Amino acid sequence: MGDLEGKKILLGVSGSIAAYKSVYLLRALQKSGAEVRVIMTQKATDFVSPLSFEAISHFPVYWDTSSQQSWNNHIELSLWADVFIIAPATANTIAKFTTGMANDMVSACYLASRCPVFMAPSMDVDMWHHPATRSNINTLQSRNVFIIPVGYGSLASGLTGEGRMAEPDEIVEILKLNLRAKTSVLKNKKVLITAGPTHEAIDPVRFIGNSSTGKMGIALAEASAGLNAEVTLILGPTQLKPGNEKIKVIRVTSARDMLKATSKYHTKSDVTIFSAAVADYRPGTVSEEKIKKTGDEINLSLIKNPDIAYEMGLRKNKHQIHIGFALESTPGEEYAKEKLKKKNFDMVVLNSLADAGAGFAVDTNKATFYFKNNKSKKFELKSKIQVANDILEAIEQLIIEKKTK
Ligand code: C5P
Repeated sequence: MGDLEGKKILLGVSGSIAAYKSVYLLRALQKSGAEVRVIMTQKATDFVSPLSFEAISHFPVYWDTSSQQSWNNHIELSLWADVFIIAPATANTIAKFTTGMANDMVSACYLASRCPVFMAPSMDVDMWHHPATRSNINTLQSRNVFIIPVGYGSLASGLTGEGRMAEPDEIVEILKLNLRAKTSVLKNKKVLITAGPTHEAIDPVRFIGNSSTGKMGIALAEASAGLNAEVTLILGPTQLKPGNEKIKVIRVTSARDMLKATSKYHTKSDVTIFSAAVADYRPGTVSEEKIKKTGDEINLSLIKNPDIAYEMGLRKNKHQIHIGFALESTPGEEYAKEKLKKKNFDMVVLNSLADAGAGFAVDTNKATFYFKNNKSKKFELKSKIQVANDILEAIEQLIIEKKTK
């Protein structure tokens, strides 16, 4: 913790139901060492009382540019801040920023700001996908406003889709990452990531698969892109996708498709992270027609799929870095060390299903890193984005070590 030590952060809250999460965000920013002041739009005060933010930040909270306190707070606060983050950022606030309107405290501060600006959008799925919002987001990105990817899930409207504000811990990690991006050794490095499950066809409508969602790999792709690496993500069949448009996404279905795509990009990659949950076996024959349910029993004969990490490990040159994952249902230290050797990895991230909160489809992970020199590093239960940040820090260290060898 403490990576935001001494940073002056201005937190702008606009009127969305997600405003309650900003109270947690305020706390999380403070825990990381930042000094935080809060401003709100009038509408945001309908969702959360300014008093909540005042009590935690220990500073007055401003939400009115004209009648309340001194009129030029927006100038003073904008110049005071090292970073301005708007969370939640509603479609309305985003539109105001795009057009340069300044009729509330948050939009007035944006116009007067000179520091890096981050926005964590929050809105309903259709509002998020509306061409007006798409175009506003593009405009703000072209002005170097960093848009924190929205989450996918159930929304206050009862609909399901994209538009949820990122979780406070995630926002803090993204801020930390971006603030150290200028000096990262990953800048302009080519990072290749495999992620998600693979589907192995049985017939035109059925397949063998697993319950990986690709969350960990997508978090790694987002974090690498945040450090200005050139990221290619080879992504198996999953509903999720990264929010950062700079990430090149190659969609694949089967293990053999994934091998083909990975081989293509591996030659030029500096760092390859194998986070995909590749199906180990596939049906020996794929029926061209849908198999009829005539008998009481059906026998599938399965054959082994290629091991992508192993194959790439054979081709790896001495400048390339390979990171592998091991997901075991037992504590698994021995398996992790064995994989490190067999697949020619520089580091293996071990997640044990024996630990609560680790594994597929959850937002958290509890990892231990194993390195070639017999060293290991154990971490507490963290969000996948925090684990991604830890993995990238370890990769940066490996790059520095390789350089000095
Ligand atoms: O042997 P195991 O499947 O446990 O190894 C896991 C590691 O190997 C992960 O990094 C995974 O992405 C990679 N792997 C692969 N191709 C396979 C199987 C696993 O790249 N066919």
